[in-house]
Amino acid sequence: MDFSRLLADRTKGMEASAIREILKVASSPDVISLAGGLPAAETFPVDELPDLLRAALDRYGSAALQYDASEGFGPLREALVPHLAARGVTATADDILITSGSQGALDGLGKVLLSRGDIVAVEAPTYLGALQAFNPYQPAYVEIETDDDGLVPVSLDRILEDQRVKFVYAVPTFQNPTGRTLSMGRRRQVAEILQRHDALLVEDDPYSDLRYVGEPVAPVKSLAPDHVVYLSTLSKTFAPGLRVGLCVAPVELQRWLVIARQGVDLHTTTLSQALAAEYIRGGLLDARLPATIALYRARRQALIDALEAYMPEGFRWTQPEGGMFIWVTGPRDLDTERLYAAAIARGVAFVPGRFFFADPSQGRSTLRMNFTAAEPDVIREAIRLLADAIHETSRDSTQGVVADER
Ligand SMILES: Cc1ncc(COP(=O)(O)O)c(C=O)c1O
Repeated sequence: MDFSRLLADRTKGMEASAIREILKVASSPDVISLAGGLPAAETFPVDELPDLLRAALDRYGSAALQYDASEGFGPLREALVPHLAARGVTATADDILITSGSQGALDGLGKVLLSRGDIVAVEAPTYLGALQAFNPYQPAYVEIETDDDGLVPVSLDRILEDQRVKFVYAVPTFQNPTGRTLSMGRRRQVAEILQRHDALLVEDDPYSDLRYVGEPVAPVKSLAPDHVVYLSTLSKTFAPGLRVGLCVAPVELQRWLVIARQGVDLHTTTLSQALAAEYIRGGLLDARLPATIALYRARRQALIDALEAYMPEGFRWTQPEGGMFIWVTGPRDLDTERLYAAAIARGVAFVPGRFFFADPSQGRSTLRMNFTAAEPDVIREAIRLLADAIHETSRDSTQGVVADER
């Protein structure tokens, strides 16, 4: 049977085969992968889990295995209140919606807010998974300029002035893919711009607990609460496989998100939520976080040191204060998809930058690297191999020019 004729129009918009092929090669055992966005497996509480499960079952009994409210498991919502308050997000338990990872919240927002052709304003570059979540709802994208301090407020202001934007999507803290953080001054400007245009921001914040240097910055949500939907997750500080994310949205929007959820999966796995509730309220999250931060701080430094040691002239990279990624920009004529093939041949993988742009003609000379999933020695070796691949491709392209001229 030819299934292609059965596909809905929106399904065709989900095509992401190039990136899937790239990540497939990257997962080969012969390749050092800086391509994924995986937390280090050794940060997962594998040894603690039996006791955690026992504690959750003792406390919640069969409720941990029962159907539950679409809004989320009550004790988890309660446990998250002080956790979010420590970040500057003021929310009651009722304000917090539990989702299947923050990815589940991104899909829910797309479903509830986007009609075909609606405009979403995104950073250039932006989180690829958000584009994948929104694409099935067939929006159009407009890109907000960015620099080392994150999105550029005048660019956002101009876009909101000129276009009917449904919502703005941004990752202001330790952005995926660049690692950049929107400065406090800019957060105030963004809050003011949102309020002035009566515009909605989806603030995606998976990484703010993973800070290695510098001081915390308040989320935009704390500056313009009625104009921001705040998303976060326990994927980076507990375990991504449990799929526990959260969303704090203005009440009216929250109501629609819950209704939409009922037709999808009813709710996030109750047992995952019960474990998460115990993990937070029993103090394990706070107790274990410093070790995770120390581990990642060393890996981040190893990547920066290796880039400094090996990368040729003409390359620059971000210096993230936290999160999981560093963004590298090469000389203007570099094509990181071509470089990818040479890098894989030498046994190292990254993600070519163009996949992170809503307009894929951009970002050809950029690439994203993850530093959390590999040990410092391995990271150093990966960058040495990458530098070899860069020399090889630039030699080939110079020879290409000479050959063309002849
Ligand atoms: C910016 C951003 N948002 C959302 C997610 C999705 O995370 P999860 O669905 O595991 O919570 C990620 C994961 O890498 C991310 O980087």
